[in-house]
Amino acid sequence: MHSHPSSLRRPVVAANWKMNTSRTQAEALARGVREGTTGDSVDIILCPPFVWLDRVAGVLAGSHVRLGAQNLFWKEAGAYTGEVSPLQLAEVCEYVIVGHSERRTVFGESDETVALKLAAAAAAGLAPILCVGENAHEHQRGEARAVVCRQLVTALRSGVPQELIVAYEPVWAIGTGVPAAPEHAQQIAALLRAELREMKPDREEVRILYGGSVSAASVGEFIALPDLDGALVGGASLKLREFASICEVAAAHEARG
Ligand code: PGA
Repeated sequence: MHSHPSSLRRPVVAANWKMNTSRTQAEALARGVREGTTGDSVDIILCPPFVWLDRVAGVLAGSHVRLGAQNLFWKEAGAYTGEVSPLQLAEVCEYVIVGHSERRTVFGESDETVALKLAAAAAAGLAPILCVGENAHEHQRGEARAVVCRQLVTALRSGVPQELIVAYEPVWAIGTGVPAAPEHAQQIAALLRAELREMKPDREEVRILYGGSVSAASVGEFIALPDLDGALVGGASLKLREFASICEVAAAHEARG
């Protein structure tokens, strides 16, 4: 795992391909990102489906582009049909998305299971990309702050991992084509950063991303905000030129302390 100077937060763009891409598409997209971006001032992380991880790892080997998975189970091995262990993932990638809203809503993951997964990922030496975010109902009721704090605190109850990325993804903005207002994202990111500082006062390198309908046109607004360090990108990460533009915009922003 590569480490970052503790005082600086380098921009990050993470791609969540979700359950998309054939093997050929996955390899072509990864090759395109490898060739069409530079990692000079931005950390680029691709999260393909499990089945293509090894293939994409081959394409990205020796390049500036990092690799992550979209999910994991918390046990190291055993009779857990269909699940993927943190130890298996640690052999092939460096990052893993934990607690994505689709895992929470479609597959019933609770704050408790997210906490187990986060701890297991960290114990295996994977850097978790922890997703938090309120749904439309909670947003309307003005509960965003309470919800993201509860999700963050529960997920990190057994400690803050050595390397951690937090993604604020308001559920009502995911896949809609309409991102959250930058002011809202900044408010929540500032709150998350304050919570993280309280949990781990000696370190500040936790990077906070915004996710939810990020495009090349909108990413600049988010990365310019004082408490946001990049983006977690779904739909737009499947389009090579769009994604490369997002990486370019992010790279134009200086690392912050
Ligand atoms: P989206 O997805 O960019 O397609 O809204 C983001 C995510 O779910 O991580």
